[in-house]
Amino acid sequence: MSVSAPQSGTDVSPRRGEIAFLLHALRSQTRIGAIAPTSPSVARRMARLIPTGPDRIVVELGAGTGAISAAIGPRLGPGSRHIAVEREPELLQALRRKAPWAEQVLGDAQDLSNRLTDLGVPQADIVLSSLPWANFDTDLQQRILDQVIESLAPNGLFAAIAYRPTRMTHGSRAFRSALRASFEHLSISSTLWTNLPPARLYVCHAPTSQRIKP
Ligand SMILES: C[S@@+](CC[C@H](N)C(=O)[O-])C[C@H]1O[C@@H](n2cnc3c(N)ncnc32)[C@H](O)[C@@H]1O
Repeated sequence: MSVSAPQSGTDVSPRRGEIAFLLHALRSQTRIGAIAPTSPSVARRMARLIPTGPDRIVVELGAGTGAISAAIGPRLGPGSRHIAVEREPELLQALRRKAPWAEQVLGDAQDLSNRLTDLGVPQADIVLSSLPWANFDTDLQQRILDQVIESLAPNGLFAAIAYRPTRMTHGSRAFRSALRASFEHLSISSTLWTNLPPARLYVCHAPTSQRIKP
């Protein structure tokens, strides 16, 4: 996994970013999980979850071509950091243009806590994910969730987009169960029809592993 400093690259046109996304999606639906970037309204809805105030740490998993990243920037208070993790280098090129303030981490969400340590980030205030969770096997879901929980501040939030809500697959059911087991609080939005595919938003806090024993 490598880390790039924020930069204002202008190497990729908006259209090329979308084409790169579509080509990746067609090549590997399992790894990408959607056929189009997150819609602007869903991206803004996710970004509104970012706690206001200075010095916030926002982590984004599966940043892709930056559809959600672009909505995060206007929500960042002074001194805040946006760390965008993505494992496809070609998609990160588009993200550099859409969110030049973000610290791009080329790598796997499974290595999240080590990468945050490398960046000198103790804990994240919020982790926003648009990973294709339903396509992951249950072991991988749990490994990444464990990394998220390890990286979250005690009052931190975790939010995830869940695709294909109308057709619950084994993977999507397993992910929902893993969230219920991993967090004291899970809220699930109604279907967000502006997204392609339609999606729901899961918002979680209070990891059960941090439960205070009586
Ligand atoms: C559905 S796309 C979302 C892209 C973008 N955030 C958006 O909202 O349009 C999922 C993204 O997660 C990335 N991804 C999948 N598995 C990953 C992993 N284990 N670690 C990091 N990124 C991953 C894919 O490469 C893809 O860019």
